[in-house]
Amino acid sequence: SIIRDKVDHIDGASNAQLSVIDGIAKEFDLTVEKLSEIIKHFCNEMDKGLEKTGMNVAMIPSFVTGVPTGKEVGTFLALDLGGTNLRVCEIAFEGEGIIKVKQHKYRVTETQKTGSARQLFDFIADCVDKFLAEFVTDYTENAKIFKMGFTFSFPVEQTAINQGNLIKWTKGFTCSDSENKDVVFMLQEALNRKGVPVVVSALVNDTVGTLLSHSYKDPNTLIGIIYGTGTNGAYYEEISKIKKLNKIPDASEKMIINVEWGAFDSEKKALPITMFDNKLDRESNNPHYQIFEKMISGMYLGEIARNILLHLVDRMLLFDGYSSKELNRNYSFETEYMSAIEADESHTLDNARKILEELLNIPSTTLTDRQIVKRVCQIVGLRAARLSSTTLAAVIIHCGMVECGVSVGIDGSLFEFYPHFSARLKTALRELFGSNVDKIEISLARDGSGVGAALAAMLAATE
Ligand code: GLC
Repeated sequence: SIIRDKVDHIDGASNAQLSVIDGIAKEFDLTVEKLSEIIKHFCNEMDKGLEKTGMNVAMIPSFVTGVPTGKEVGTFLALDLGGTNLRVCEIAFEGEGIIKVKQHKYRVTETQKTGSARQLFDFIADCVDKFLAEFVTDYTENAKIFKMGFTFSFPVEQTAINQGNLIKWTKGFTCSDSENKDVVFMLQEALNRKGVPVVVSALVNDTVGTLLSHSYKDPNTLIGIIYGTGTNGAYYEEISKIKKLNKIPDASEKMIINVEWGAFDSEKKALPITMFDNKLDRESNNPHYQIFEKMISGMYLGEIARNILLHLVDRMLLFDGYSSKELNRNYSFETEYMSAIEADESHTLDNARKILEELLNIPSTTLTDRQIVKRVCQIVGLRAARLSSTTLAAVIIHCGMVECGVSVGIDGSLFEFYPHFSARLKTALRELFGSNVDKIEISLARDGSGVGAALAAMLAATE
């Protein structure tokens, strides 16, 4: 089989089933040559993005030039918006790497994601107010003004550390009246309307936050990455290489760049797009955008797998040709289900059975069905992990760090929880870099968006 990974045997499959599945596996396969080709293409896009604004791979200057030393002290608030939840945190840096975090999560509803921007920001201001009242003791005692770092995990054309216009919503957000507007301004107005004593002093992308918080611990960190609901990366770039920057800030040598690699290949020329990807893209609320992200991240993997499953059902090769109302619904096959199915090592695939029969109401499944479903998850999950290696490798190559080695901080549910994701990613990197891969230190960087945003607020305060 073409699949570059350990796969289970499919018992009792017909030739028709095997040949269709092999065909799909081939379409999803990524040889090291193909990976290298993608990397070349992406390196080019990075150069273009550094040259001019408005390019497909946006290469957004973050205006964060400082590198945390780990000795910082102070207490700041952080706000994190970018996926399923809104998180408000109070973060106390007590020196010598000691960080104390109080936090609370608030669920963002579909209505809030797709309503008006004013409603969304009013909701956020409400949450900050509630958080302060509930968790922060000196909120009522003295009329203190809190400084807050805002992690806003969407593409923003940043013009200062506390200023930036939203370029385009991603990951299912579509609030009206907000594109091209300053998100700090909108948030600050909402906080002021409610009389919440908070000043938004830094705006960062989640990847920038992840990079900052990881370099707080490890000064060799070059890259911060998110593999979660969406995917993106940020890295330290030499300011002289950011040609589009007309106002060079102070004497710093480096600035963090938010790559926005999820947008890579909107022309669909470099990536091996399949009909299942095209269907997903067409039916999404941002067709032609975030093509790379749509092949990799947690928001979309389940939907790609669902498209394949329905294709097999329609050819009478799965579930005896029966689907269900649930499985027919877009996004009903969640990436979490894929995780559980890939993790199911039992001979009878009982967890897979539960998901398919109980959660998705497929009338009945045979062992062969369940093994096919598991194989489909493996095909989609493997491609995601291998593709993920390309932009990471490209940044390392771009920075000339292949030989000397770097540390990479990674956050996100896919990296943390999806079975084999990091092993598959490392295998691809080994194919690309040979033994130099051992000099790439990849580690989980939990809570970059909270701690990182607070660090950015602190760096902004000391400048
Ligand atoms: C999407 C956003 C990007 C963010 C990433 C990870 O790609 O556009 O800003 O960093 O998701 O959350």
